[in-house]
Amino acid sequence: MDILIKNIKSLVNVADHPENWVAGDALSQLRTIDNAYLWIEQGKIKDYGRMEQLAENNFNGKTVDASGRMVFPSFCDSHTHLVYAGSREIEYGDKIRGLSYEEIARRGGGILNSAKLLHNTSEDSLYEQSLARINEIISLGTGAVEIKSGYGLTVEDELKMLRVIRRLKDTTPVTIRSTFLGAHSIPAEYKEDPDKYVDIVVDEMLPEVGRQKLADYVDVFCDRGFFSVRQTDRILNAAERYGLQPKIHANELDYSGGIQVGVQHKARSVDHLEYTGEEEIQALLKSETMPTLLPGAAFFLGLVDPPVRKMIQAGLPIALASDYNPGSSPSGNMKFIMSLGTIKMKMLPEEVIHATTSNGAYAMGLEDQLGTITPGKTGNVFITKPIPTYAFMPYAYGSYLIDQVVLNGELQDHHI
Ligand code: NIG
Ligand code: FE
Repeated sequence: MDILIKNIKSLVNVADHPENWVAGDALSQLRTIDNAYLWIEQGKIKDYGRMEQLAENNFNGKTVDASGRMVFPSFCDSHTHLVYAGSREIEYGDKIRGLSYEEIARRGGGILNSAKLLHNTSEDSLYEQSLARINEIISLGTGAVEIKSGYGLTVEDELKMLRVIRRLKDTTPVTIRSTFLGAHSIPAEYKEDPDKYVDIVVDEMLPEVGRQKLADYVDVFCDRGFFSVRQTDRILNAAERYGLQPKIHANELDYSGGIQVGVQHKARSVDHLEYTGEEEIQALLKSETMPTLLPGAAFFLGLVDPPVRKMIQAGLPIALASDYNPGSSPSGNMKFIMSLGTIKMKMLPEEVIHATTSNGAYAMGLEDQLGTITPGKTGNVFITKPIPTYAFMPYAYGSYLIDQVVLNGELQDHHI
């Protein structure tokens, strides 16, 4: 059915001919139209403008009156691990008592703990648990999401995760991109000889993932205590043979060289980036790789914040994502991610809006389809509750302000 949203107080992030991404000074400029309408036809944005320009006589569909309320393009959350089994609040207790993320991981907790839980969970139950999280993030305004494997760490369990992601793609209205992250952690039995595990990733997992076309991207956790630059390079070379572009975890725990190796392999994005210096910024400036920050993880783990202002001043684009996962960011709330971007990282409201919409879309290769209010793009938007300005969204960090959700031009029944 076609949908016409009328009397919109402000239509946010409008772009007739959007660039692939928004970078540097342009991040602080945001185009809006006050007293607007938005027309979505057969799932795609057909037209928008000021109310007085609306020629309504040939409209035949559902009309929504958005008086006092704003319309945003749906959030594009380009980095999550939302397919997982159970939860890890026992480690949360350990963390509160003073253990670091790396100490918990070294004791066999962390990612390996989630891998054990996932192994003992049926594929159907894993799907049901993940579906509940998808429904949750739809209510929170997300219209596109990337989901990684990486809690399998065996051929069989990695494929199980990727099949669950594929099933979510087929059965939910959000746009989903899937990423193979076999190199998320080194299983305990390979601790003494991690290259043996890399052999399995390269020789056994990747060929199957490629053959069954189960992933759109490849990821490696390239950081101190996890995978080295040399191992990352080897995995990314192998992945290239299957047409898998990298989106990698880099520089969360140290100046790991992850950003540089990602850029060398023409990564779509490099993510985390708490440890970003001049050399890393220079490498990113020469690339088409989206620097993606995950303020939920930095907040939850008490990490240093990345030097965002320096990165924007240098002319880089920035995407923000939730990192929704059981260990370092157990939330997929992109509105709260906007708040963390502004409060913790000192980004402006305009900057966090671009970073959670159009730049997130680029980080998933979806910039032609999503991320801005543009004719021809997919009709994924949300309507807010009555709010005074768009800056109220990140400012009112604890309020639930999303009133109605439209995906593929269809109003969603959503309950938070
Ligand atoms: O992005 N840094 C690596 N991976 C995840 C955490 C996964 C987990 O602890 O379960 C992250 O923070
Ligand atoms: Fe992550």
